[in-house]
Amino acid sequence: MNDTRAPRIPVDQLHAYVRAIWEQAGSSPREAQLVADHLVAANLTGHDSHGVGMIPRYVDSLRDHELKLNAHASVVKDVGAVLTVDGGKGFGQVVAHEAMELGIERAKKLGVCAVALRNAHHIGRIGHWAEQCAKAGLASFHFVNVAGDPLVAPFGGADRRIGTNPFCAAFPREGKAPLVLDFATSAVAYGKTRVAYNQGKQVPPGALIDHEGKPTVEPKVMMEEPFGALMPVGGQAGGHKGFGLAAMCEIFGGALSGGYTTHEDTLQKTNAIINCMLSVIADPAAFDAPNAEAEADAFVEWVKASPLAGGAERIYAPGEPERATRAEREANGIPVDPQTWRQIREAALAAGLPQDDADRWSARLQ
Ligand SMILES: NC(=O)c1ccc[n+]([C@@H]2O[C@H](COP(=O)([O-])OP(=O)(O)OC[C@H]3O[C@@H](n4cnc5c(N)ncnc54)[C@H](O)[C@@H]3O)[C@@H](O)[C@H]2O)c1
Repeated sequence: MNDTRAPRIPVDQLHAYVRAIWEQAGSSPREAQLVADHLVAANLTGHDSHGVGMIPRYVDSLRDHELKLNAHASVVKDVGAVLTVDGGKGFGQVVAHEAMELGIERAKKLGVCAVALRNAHHIGRIGHWAEQCAKAGLASFHFVNVAGDPLVAPFGGADRRIGTNPFCAAFPREGKAPLVLDFATSAVAYGKTRVAYNQGKQVPPGALIDHEGKPTVEPKVMMEEPFGALMPVGGQAGGHKGFGLAAMCEIFGGALSGGYTTHEDTLQKTNAIINCMLSVIADPAAFDAPNAEAEADAFVEWVKASPLAGGAERIYAPGEPERATRAEREANGIPVDPQTWRQIREAALAAGLPQDDADRWSARLQ
């Protein structure tokens, strides 16, 4: 869906449309606002796979009684610097926001806080949560599992056993954008294989295996039986590292939160995406490191001074590509391809938006 020729929708209008859909579905104004904030921000950063295109899947999940509207994060155990929070299958965009608010408050008081969130409906782009911490001046790292939804093979394995479990870490900088590393531990995101399949394109080598465990560049192995699997990040050569990180995301995110990991008994049977996340949030001011930020900046400057390798246009620090896309899309609007746009409209109608309203939105936004 990262199509630069797709029609552009002004950011504020797309945000208002998303709010209208969820308010119509029964969300409180605050919930609709948080969901719109998150989905539109994901599009702004260029991660369209986690933006407004998720709405149809969320509406399916609501229909299946898996996604619970207007649910809130509830603290199930509080031992000061460690909080265990249950998301009650509420909107991830709400319960993760609330879990971060709790963790931020504690980290400011105690220097550090580990927040384990379980049982949240899809929490989307994880960088959003790291940015919430960074806005409060705090560093953080996040281990996330996609509970019971395997798409990735273990290194050396030939079928799907693990979710696309994202890892994220962010470092705040006074008066500057934070450094934000945020990626799925699969070699490519699942959404990118769907886009390639729809466009009749291949995916880069090292990203996929077929049902026999043989490397392939054909995305149909993710869409048609017999199913293949995504490779862990690192592919054929370094996939043991991606697999290891994905495994620790399962265990820290899924097990330590009191949620669940992916195995035979927990395989997801509906459209719901359930995430568990362990976030460790730390106040840089609590360390004996007055030069931490200057040292971070000096390092970034140092790596950026490397001569460019053939084909490279520039060297990015973590989070920089997202910021560049954000600036461009804030100015020019968010591209939404016609198929995704139709799917969102159908989902809006299924969520209860009256036909007249849907028509008005369509006319306004196209
Ligand atoms: N909630 C879930 O269940 C779930 C599951 C999987 C992924 N996700 C989200 O999907 C999103 C996309 O993940 P992805 O793996 O496709 O991301 P990606 O492959 O685009 O990698 C993104 C990361 O790499 C950095 N980066 C990108 N290009 C770079 C370059 N040329 N040089 C230096 N750094 C660069 C970015 O700043 C960012 O930190 C993430 O936001 C992730 O949190 C969510």
